[in-house]
Amino acid sequence: MEGRVSDPKRIVLFGMNGQVGGRLMATLAAAGYEVTGIDRARCDLAMATPKDIAVIIRAVEPALVINASAYTGVDAAETDATMAERVNGEIPTIMAHAAAEQGVPFLHFSTDYVFDGARGAPYAEDANLNPVNAYAISKRAGELGVRASGGTVFRLQWVFDSRGKNFFLTMKKLLAERDEVRVVADQLGCPSNALHIAQAVTVAAPKMIDGSLPAGIYHLSGGGHTSWHGFACAIAAATQSTARVVPIVTAEFPTPAARPKDSRLNSSTLASYGIGMPHWREGLTQAISDTNANS
Ligand SMILES: NC(=O)c1ccc[n+]([C@@H]2O[C@H](COP(=O)([O-])OP(=O)(O)OC[C@H]3O[C@@H](n4cnc5c(N)ncnc54)[C@H](OP(=O)(O)O)[C@@H]3O)[C@@H](O)[C@H]2O)c1
Repeated sequence: MEGRVSDPKRIVLFGMNGQVGGRLMATLAAAGYEVTGIDRARCDLAMATPKDIAVIIRAVEPALVINASAYTGVDAAETDATMAERVNGEIPTIMAHAAAEQGVPFLHFSTDYVFDGARGAPYAEDANLNPVNAYAISKRAGELGVRASGGTVFRLQWVFDSRGKNFFLTMKKLLAERDEVRVVADQLGCPSNALHIAQAVTVAAPKMIDGSLPAGIYHLSGGGHTSWHGFACAIAAATQSTARVVPIVTAEFPTPAARPKDSRLNSSTLASYGIGMPHWREGLTQAISDTNANS
């Protein structure tokens, strides 16, 4: 690894327009970082070469590279596995290699879906991986590639925000339009507001830059857990919806991709470094307040 002196306040961020990426642009800038955001127009990851990625990073001479881009269509990946492998597996591997060559720490995001959900208790970072769908297989490939170059991975779950494409916004709309909404009650996890993820990453950034957070795989999720049905009930209560929220089992809502039943993450390792997120209910309150402010 080639050591170099970098401006500690400069960051390259791939995926600047995503749920997490968009929030990171703002939280990192507010913390004083100079963030060079990279979007699809600047670098289409479906076609980017290792040289393209290296040139982007080298031009900025950052202190940290973050990849918030991903192919996040879990069901679409079942019939588009090549693109998912490309964006979620090969690209992060290339980015991590390029960052390592330039002596810069690299942060990538993965998913709770790398686990099969059969454990029945929150997963620790070193638990066995057993992805049950094409998206998760591609994310596992990304984890392995990033770690092979000494990069860092934060596994996230159930990401939502007041913008983007997510369960919170879909459910909020359905609850306003329908008398009854049927929601899966036998999948457990922790809904994670992208703003709170970005705030946690903004705390982690200087620790990655000064080396006090060792490179590795970490779990980042908030307090508490629920099912999709529990989350929907909380959204209904927060939006004063009178729709009935009916619990169903996964088999009653078949999707192209299988999903883990219980992918709760144990986030105590990151917490020991002072990095964490509030309870998911706070994330919901935040999203409701952001939605009201936007309307
Ligand atoms: N969403 C979840 O529930 C969830 C759960 C667990 C883990 N994660 C992980 O968390 C991270 C952030 O997720 P997110 O929800 O913020 O994702 P997101 O909102 O779907 O954003 C993904 C970003 O990646 C960009 N991207 C995708 N394909 C690209 C390509 N070919 N070239 C350039 N850019 C491309 C998208 O660009 P465009 O804006 O141009 O489309 C988008 O800005 C990802 O690693 C994801 O796997 C997410």
